[in-house]
Amino acid sequence: TGRVALDIGFVNTASCTSEITYIDGDAGVLRYRGYPIDQLAGQASFLEVSYLLIYGELPTADQLEAFDQRIRRHTLLHEDLKQFFNGFPRDAHPMPVLSSAVSALSTFYQDSLDPFSPEQVELSTVRLLAKLPTIAAYAYKKSVGQPMLYPDNSLGLVENFLRMTFGFPAEPYEADPELVKALDMLFVLHADHEQNCSTSTVRLVGSSHANLFASVSAGINALFGPLHGGANQSVLEMLEAIKRDGGDIPRFVERVKNKEPGVKLMGFGHRVYKNYDPRAAIVKQTADTVLSKLGGNNELLDLARQLEEIALSDDYFIERKLYPNVDFYTGLIYRAMGFPVRMFTVLFALGRVPGWIAQWREMIEDPATKIGRPRQVYTGPAERSFLEIAQR
Ligand code: CMC
Repeated sequence: TGRVALDIGFVNTASCTSEITYIDGDAGVLRYRGYPIDQLAGQASFLEVSYLLIYGELPTADQLEAFDQRIRRHTLLHEDLKQFFNGFPRDAHPMPVLSSAVSALSTFYQDSLDPFSPEQVELSTVRLLAKLPTIAAYAYKKSVGQPMLYPDNSLGLVENFLRMTFGFPAEPYEADPELVKALDMLFVLHADHEQNCSTSTVRLVGSSHANLFASVSAGINALFGPLHGGANQSVLEMLEAIKRDGGDIPRFVERVKNKEPGVKLMGFGHRVYKNYDPRAAIVKQTADTVLSKLGGNNELLDLARQLEEIALSDDYFIERKLYPNVDFYTGLIYRAMGFPVRMFTVLFALGRVPGWIAQWREMIEDPATKIGRPRQVYTGPAERSFLEIAQR
């Protein structure tokens, strides 16, 4: 009705109201359900934060225990779903493998198709949280040609994932507690970020009353793009390219400023933050400690630090308020942990899944929700008459 406002990329348009996550981009503030991110990171576990995002309050000890037990019981994949992994090419990127397997969950759990059954939504929630780490580990094992490991439900979510990723059958695997702690904290930092591209995708797909698995599968595909979650992979590739080029940072920065096609300072800039991304500040602090403990590549970390310093004192970046975002330093930590570059965005997805679930549930429960259907401003030809093929 009336005139349609053009807002390419939804820069100024809110698509929903939400009680989940608050961002003040000018001040660099991020809160989940009112709790500042710097209080949650390091103090609350990923499971606690998942509970907080999905159910609205931090769990009591009993609630957390019950939640943990439910998730542990659902980590196995259907044996037939396992077959999927053999069908993909060996060198497949694990992100499309992940989204395909999540999409396939709808076929194994057809009871999930009704988005208005609270019991089914609850079951899908637990299934998704529990199975995504197993799917991610299988995707990894497939890519390196190693045997897949069944989940060990005596372990917590992060330990179980690390064991399924880095362990071998019939060999004991004990995850380094430092590694578990650091990965858990990184998952907390990624757990939600209000209406970003993948979350908006989850809500948009869900607004047609598609089920949770279909909606999250679409979200994973949105996250794959290098301007979104794929940036963590791109940052490491960028740092390696600079290193190959003799570590010539000023030359690289010049290329960025000259807007050479395809050359951006990856891991910098954000639609909402016009200040230091509070998550990046925490990751930067952690990178140092984690890398020294896990023996990571300090050469690339030094390069990243210098790159940040040069960029932050350059007018191009100052004028545009471009600061490091969450993806700038995470890749260095993931690599020190032993993950190949292609798994970085999968790790982002593992962290983001409680946010997607919380947002999808809020959308489906909100009586104000309508099917997402943006308008357009038509710029094509005015009416014209059809010509027979011989006359064209
Ligand atoms: N390097 C160089 N220039 C940049 C960058 C960058 N990383 N980011 C923005 N700019 C410039 C852009 O060219 C534009 O300049 P001008 O005004 O001269 O045309 C200005 O800054 C404003 O940028 P924009 O593209 O209008 O901003 P946006 O809000 O549409 O895009 C962004 C946000 C995150 C897609 C963008 O900053 C970007 O591409 N960054 C690199 C990729 C990246 O790190 N993505 C991760 C985002 S954070 C977590 C996540 O979602 O995964």
